[in-house]
Amino acid sequence: MRLDKLLTAAGLTRAQARRAVLEGRATVNGAPTRDAGAHVDGASVLLDGRPVVPPGDVFCMLNKPAGVLTAVRDAREATAFSLLPEAVRRRNPSPVGRLDRDVTGLLLFTTHGELLHRLIAPKYAVEKVYVARVDGTPDEADVRRLAAGVALADFTARPARLEILGEGLVRLTVTEGRYHEVKRLLAAVGHPVLELARAAMGGVYLDKALKAGESRPLTDAEVACLMRAARLAEP
Ligand code: URA
Repeated sequence: MRLDKLLTAAGLTRAQARRAVLEGRATVNGAPTRDAGAHVDGASVLLDGRPVVPPGDVFCMLNKPAGVLTAVRDAREATAFSLLPEAVRRRNPSPVGRLDRDVTGLLLFTTHGELLHRLIAPKYAVEKVYVARVDGTPDEADVRRLAAGVALADFTARPARLEILGEGLVRLTVTEGRYHEVKRLLAAVGHPVLELARAAMGGVYLDKALKAGESRPLTDAEVACLMRAARLAEP
């Protein structure tokens, strides 16, 4: 999509869009541009420093900091939702699943109800990837136990893929996303979590350029990746 088309889709008249670009008020991936015909598919476009969100569904990622609730609103506490830019908040996107208050990393938001449902419903088995600092260092026996599906007090977890990244550092890939699942699984194999971050969901990875608390719209390629993971598009 052209830059001027994106701006008009976001609510500006054609004349306003042309003028805004000529005045250098738009940036594409951080770089100011005066080219109204620039192709901006998947790019992060800002107008007067604020993200341009076209009508249609909202898809964005937040690098959730620790100490923040996932809930959309809370009378007393900061929420992940409140960290989104105002233009995005106005569209009322929902968080895709929950991260505990102390857990950091990838938190997706969208207005696409069916995608949201499928990304978190165990039935669709969408992969969620976590990196954890744990007590002790898991070994190959732990890898096998998690791969076999660990029995917890209230359910038996689906097979989870554990990779040992270093001393006390692991990556765990799960497909369910039950309450406190990652913490419970790692505790169950004797390695309680000390620190936990989500790195990816449905093949979309947290953008390492995002500092804690920052967000950006998903690129078209990332949205397509989620759609495929949720079986809403051809693989
Ligand atoms: N598993 C957990 O234990 N906590 C989270 O926030 C997400 C997955």
